[in-house]
Amino acid sequence: MEGAQPKQKLFSAVQPSGAVTIGNYIGAIRNFAVLQDEYDCLYAVADLHAITVRQEPAVLRRNTLELLALFIACGIDPEKCVLFVQSHVPAHCELTWVLNTIAYLGELSRMTQFKDKSARHAENVNMGLMDYPVLMASDILLYQAALVPVGADQKQHLELTRDLAVRFNNRYGSTFTVPEPFIPKGSGARVMSLADPSRKMSKSDENPNAFVTMSDDRDTVLRKFKRAVTDSDAEVRYDPENKPGVSNLLTIYCAFTGRDTAEAEREFAGKGYGDFKLAVGEAVADVLDPIRAEKARLLADKGYLNAVMKRGEEAAARIARRTLSKVYRKVGFYAGE
Ligand code: TYM
Repeated sequence: MEGAQPKQKLFSAVQPSGAVTIGNYIGAIRNFAVLQDEYDCLYAVADLHAITVRQEPAVLRRNTLELLALFIACGIDPEKCVLFVQSHVPAHCELTWVLNTIAYLGELSRMTQFKDKSARHAENVNMGLMDYPVLMASDILLYQAALVPVGADQKQHLELTRDLAVRFNNRYGSTFTVPEPFIPKGSGARVMSLADPSRKMSKSDENPNAFVTMSDDRDTVLRKFKRAVTDSDAEVRYDPENKPGVSNLLTIYCAFTGRDTAEAEREFAGKGYGDFKLAVGEAVADVLDPIRAEKARLLADKGYLNAVMKRGEEAAARIARRTLSKVYRKVGFYAGE
């Protein structure tokens, strides 16, 4: 079309490290499909990131395929987007090496997630855990992404990515697009645990009732919401300070129904927590049921998933190679005559 601007690039990734939760869905994955018409999107299964904490190899392999199927089941169209597995594109590791030389030990050791994970995995504080945000910066910068949809917990890593991009551009001349985070407005950016609403909902929580996974069946979803922590006054009102459990359930309800908080409060005015929790569970299960069925259908067709992955790898590698060549030239690597 005459005068049409090329679309901006968008990148995001999810780790195949265990079950994907409704926190991952609300904070990130559901936006992946929403943004696919407006941007040139690349979405990766971040297996290189996953091995920074110990993984069972067979389980990691299975989770990689499951996550790719889940992306598609959540509405990401492989005809419109590039879907690939991070380890299939070696440029991610290659750029990480170069960016390591401009990333400071001090800034990496100050990252909140590094500090949290070092405390949680004290027996395995490996270099990869510390270098994790540099690999993440490489993921994003390789594709010259302008936008990165993530949950609030990744904001600090996005800031580091921006710092590294600016630092490189200043030292070697304009090379990287400086990306913006796309974080959902309000509390959907940080869905809390159902068992302890002062903590983030996380797939690595040792209490399985603390999170709902994208593969939980209807009965499990209803049971987990029935058990969710609320408070002793019986009013369904959004007040994260004084009513963190109820507010978190309202956030989840609104994310899954498209209602706003005021509408939801009106809907449950005068009703007890029992009715409310059942309604939240049903709203979530109504969305998860067809996603789970579609994912199962896709997983039965490995040939198709492998073909999507292969196509994604080729498309991603082509773009990544271009950026990496530019980087190598800028830093002064001799490329022959
Ligand atoms: P991961 O796999 O831990 O989480 C995937 C996405 O889910 C978001 N998220 C949440 N959002 C709201 N509430 C929650 N309780 C919640 N828990 C997780 C995360 O913010 C994330 O967006 N490092 C990334 C993966 C990654 C990546 C990248 C992301 C690798 N390279 C490049 C963006 C760009 C991660 O660990 O996500």
